[in-house]
Amino acid sequence: MTPQRRAAVLIAHRGASAVAPESTRAAIREAIRAGARMIELDVQMTRDGRLVIFHDDQLERTTDGSGRLRTMRYAQVAQLDAGSWFHRRFAGERILTVSQAIRLMPQRMRINLELKRTSQRQALLGRLVRVIRWTRAARRVLVSSFDPALLEPLCRQFTCALVCRRRPEHALQQALRLGCAAWHPHVSVVTLERIRRAHRAGLDVNVWVVDDPRRARQLIRWGADGIFTNDPVRL
Ligand code: G3P
Ligand code: MG
Repeated sequence: MTPQRRAAVLIAHRGASAVAPESTRAAIREAIRAGARMIELDVQMTRDGRLVIFHDDQLERTTDGSGRLRTMRYAQVAQLDAGSWFHRRFAGERILTVSQAIRLMPQRMRINLELKRTSQRQALLGRLVRVIRWTRAARRVLVSSFDPALLEPLCRQFTCALVCRRRPEHALQQALRLGCAAWHPHVSVVTLERIRRAHRAGLDVNVWVVDDPRRARQLIRWGADGIFTNDPVRL
């Protein structure tokens, strides 16, 4: 008999990033309001070792700053306006630290921290473990990354997922080797057969990024465990 799987989880991608500036307090608030069960947020480290929620390498697209985030000190990053680019009513939204973001979310919500690639893996890992402990969020956190080397030491302590955009078969094998609990494929590489194969191997499958409700329904019929969306309000 096929084991019964739970209902698919709605995961707000960078918060409710279709209706508020991504990765900000406003985007988290809107995701909570929309009933998302999990929020995905990208994690990077500033020059002085603070973990912050930010997607791009460069500051230009989503702030009034310029240059590379990882070359800036946290005190500089914390001054930036991360909301006006989206709409002037979000002026004054700030780049959040990981601990601030975690504290904004109710206990019932899960948090997907996606670790961006870095040349300072050890420093990032050490700080991440400390932040998760301080905030007592270990049971609520799903740590993911495109970089297997970042996940390898974490899979023993936390629930982890390997993210993949290409070479899905290879990524599936890698996720298993690492001891991940889930596989996070881009929607373009997902097939019914791959979802079944992942499930047979004991992996959950969370698919990114789907804003079209018809496509979301199809993936749910196929058995996807989670759907990342920029627009949890619509989905
Ligand atoms: O974690 C899934 C997805 O967020 C990966 O891509 O570039 O949106 O962080 P990206
Ligand atoms: Mg991401």
